[in-house]
Amino acid sequence: MEREELIIVDDLEKQAWEILKKSIIYYQGRPVGTVATCDASLGDLHHDHCFIRDFASSALLFLIKGKYDIVRNFLEETLKLQPKKSQLDAYTPGQGLIPASFKVVSENGQEYLEADFGEHAIARVTPVDSCLWWVIILYAYVKSTKDISFALQPEFQQGIMLIMELCLATRFEMYPTLLVPDGACMIYRRMGIYGYPLEIQALFYAALRAARKLLICAGDEEIVIGIDNRLPLLRDHIRHHYWIDMKRLNQIYRFKGEEYGESAVNQFNIYPDSIPYANLAIWLPKHGGYLAGNVGPSQLDTRFFALGNMMAIISSLASEQQSQAIMNLIEEQWDDLVGEMPMKICFPAVEKEEYRIFTGCDPRNIPWSYHNGGSWPVLLWSLIAAAQKTGRSYIGKQALEIAQARLSVDHWPEYYDGTRGLLIGKKARRYQTWTVTGFLLAKELMRNPEHLALISFGQFDSENPSQSCEL
Ligand code: GLC
Repeated sequence: MEREELIIVDDLEKQAWEILKKSIIYYQGRPVGTVATCDASLGDLHHDHCFIRDFASSALLFLIKGKYDIVRNFLEETLKLQPKKSQLDAYTPGQGLIPASFKVVSENGQEYLEADFGEHAIARVTPVDSCLWWVIILYAYVKSTKDISFALQPEFQQGIMLIMELCLATRFEMYPTLLVPDGACMIYRRMGIYGYPLEIQALFYAALRAARKLLICAGDEEIVIGIDNRLPLLRDHIRHHYWIDMKRLNQIYRFKGEEYGESAVNQFNIYPDSIPYANLAIWLPKHGGYLAGNVGPSQLDTRFFALGNMMAIISSLASEQQSQAIMNLIEEQWDDLVGEMPMKICFPAVEKEEYRIFTGCDPRNIPWSYHNGGSWPVLLWSLIAAAQKTGRSYIGKQALEIAQARLSVDHWPEYYDGTRGLLIGKKARRYQTWTVTGFLLAKELMRNPEHLALISFGQFDSENPSQSCEL
């Protein structure tokens, strides 16, 4: 029986690799990326695009398998798409931005790459996460190939600097977090996550950590100082203001409103009545906790967002204790957060009036579907990475078993619906590349936890930031 199972699993991986191979995009004869999906049946405009965020899991997988050329080409070509000058026209993408996606276009026998900075996306959302993922992928490439000279090329140093300048620029806000519009990340439709969404903050932290290591020989002291200053502030801000566990919930529950000045305990003026404390008090296990989805003026979004929490663990944005507590929560509330398909993009879904206000009546984001409480198999790899980082491989094993029993049978769908993820997503595309890479990457991470080093960071030592230059 055991042998039979093994063979089936082997076949599964073989099949997944076949799909992945078919998804590779060639540009002037060189592999440069992977398409979002090999399923064109839904007539989706973007199916032939390579999305930067989608490619992150492909990149890690290729690096693990020693297939460096596709990742190198991807990094070189996407860097060329980054605007290098500030734009006078406010409708064109700003300096330093990396597109959401690109595709190969052929005209008169000539090939060129066409970038999409959100102009072709629904609602023209800005892909803030792309430049952050780009730095993270570059770091993984250097770490894997041990070829720091690649990142030290002047155009790469300039590319990183432009991204850092874009992120660290003085703007209107007075917090160390990044202020972004709705739909600036994986959830790229209106979902009430404008402001300071956790996913962006976790990716921002990881990108800062990566850039700090990649800018070692850079002449621009100011940027390096800027990163060193920002890292501990961002980390402490998130660890304090975003954290929710029973102890913290008790404090929030008794918060006084309308406090003024420096000594205010309730710094963001959160009104306890705005948070579902009764439900949370039942849901939160004694030793569990998580980072909130968003924190802003009179706003504490208590929804659990998976990618933000997983990336916070992987990048050490969350403290060791918090990371353990997040994994405790996942274990205790397994049915809600993992269910029958790892894992829920966010929990709980917004329903009724909240659904109408938060999503603008988006028919795709109806409760327990797509971004609004749907289950996304791509998140499997980040769950496994977080489980390994916290020494809980058994959680990863369990999640992987659930996923591999269904993914191939269901033709590798983009997402699942329902409170337990039992339904194949209403409008899910099949043969979604990051569903396939999420699974394959999860397998590789389970086989060899050392691969985690490509994407994870230890605790940041603010006393000695230069120590963190070692790759
Ligand atoms: C969906 C997702 C987005 C992803 C894209 C391509 O729009 O919201 O995160 O990048 O599909 O797979």
